[in-house]
Amino acid sequence: MIKPLMRGAVPDITAAIGKTPIVRLNHVVEDLDSEIYVKVEYMNPAGSMKDRVGLNIIRDAEERGMLQPGGTIIEATSGNTGAGLAMVAAPRGYKCIFVMPDKMSQEKIDNLRAYGAKVVICPTAVEPSDPRSYYSVARRLVEETPGAFYANQYHNPANPEAHYLSTAPEIWEQTGGEFDAFVAGMGTGGTLSGCGRFFKEQRDDIKIVGVDPIGSLYYEYVKTGRLTKAFSYYVEGIGEDVLPSTMNLSILDDVVQVDDRECFQMTRDLVRREGIFCGGSCGAAVIGAIKYARGLKKPQRILVLLPDSAQKYLSKIFNDDWMRSNGFLDDDTTGTVAHLLKRQPTRVISIDDATSVRQAVSILKEHGISQLPVLDSAQRHCGIVSEIDLLNYLVQNEGGLDMPVRELVSSDYATVSPHTRLQLLKNIFNDAKVVLVTENDRLLAVLTKIDLIDYLASDSAV
Ligand SMILES: Cc1ncc(COP(=O)(O)O)c(C=O)c1O
Repeated sequence: MIKPLMRGAVPDITAAIGKTPIVRLNHVVEDLDSEIYVKVEYMNPAGSMKDRVGLNIIRDAEERGMLQPGGTIIEATSGNTGAGLAMVAAPRGYKCIFVMPDKMSQEKIDNLRAYGAKVVICPTAVEPSDPRSYYSVARRLVEETPGAFYANQYHNPANPEAHYLSTAPEIWEQTGGEFDAFVAGMGTGGTLSGCGRFFKEQRDDIKIVGVDPIGSLYYEYVKTGRLTKAFSYYVEGIGEDVLPSTMNLSILDDVVQVDDRECFQMTRDLVRREGIFCGGSCGAAVIGAIKYARGLKKPQRILVLLPDSAQKYLSKIFNDDWMRSNGFLDDDTTGTVAHLLKRQPTRVISIDDATSVRQAVSILKEHGISQLPVLDSAQRHCGIVSEIDLLNYLVQNEGGLDMPVRELVSSDYATVSPHTRLQLLKNIFNDAKVVLVTENDRLLAVLTKIDLIDYLASDSAV
């Protein structure tokens, strides 16, 4: 006999997902005319907005017969989706195996093991197609495990659907739709695509704004349509090195780029000045929203989704030694890209994409440089051509010297802003040969390693 439920109780922990508060920010927004409100998703039972995703993915798999009683859920996860899946799996009796990249914090790994899940750690510094990458290992485990179900948050429509069915309607009910812009970090795109779709269906003038860390490919892809090589950064949960099919970029009105240092400083401020105990991608979303607000002509109400809690980052973002050793504290004195450009003003020599190979070679020779940024017909940069691209083309002897360089444009560069710390620029040069400095979609400079070395070796470096 099923006993009636006690008044005030829910039948199991999964029924406690959602109904998270929306809070106004009062102290970290300083002189901003716009108002910023945050949806505090760490108040979900397993500590993040991914609880909603875990529930919807499992419910959907059960309904479609892809997950049988006693089955095993496998996922490539940076932690939160794992916790959401593990929490929902526990009362339903499923087993879980999670595959994680090695840059993830120990707290996240321990958290998943606490739910009884198996955790497999893989190297971060390999291509997604490498058999050791966490995507490849997850796929292999699915093939080898009987009764396995691959949650596949990067390509499972049940991920954005979770936000379409749960997060967004909840926000709408709480606010009555009285906000102008919705801002969230860009990971799988579940949050932005699901919420974005719901909000646009209610009112298509609501702006949907993504926040992307420097090092990830989204920003450059949205701005120029080019897939550049991603390079490493520290903020967890946002940014990608391949495009997930769960990300609907067409729903975005704007993308804001942020760097690790500003994300982590804002995360600390949110905890210390607002009392909101949130994680690193929350700092990213809020600093992204502030940058977006600064570019607005009229003050607006901006709603920002804060995915998870500070608990999982105590040994990193909230540890002074870790912050200092990575150059994220105020006592980092190496300065910013703007300092470098002030001391070593560089004239940007660019070409448009109709320029012929012959003219490009002659411009490289005339200026003694090795690469040229290329601008499209709207004068936006759309990539670079380098000596090596031209050389390969000429050796293969496929076309004439009159061919437009448009055909040879490559994506082998990284983009930064004038505010990027030189400490970070140094790390970027571990992966990228050329860095383009942009601000408000305008190309300000092209930097190579030698520019940074010259600056740091000079007496006037700050
Ligand atoms: C901490 C954190 N922030 C942000 C995100 C990005 O959310 P989404 O995958 O919905 O784009 C994730 C996703 O895993 C996350 O774990």
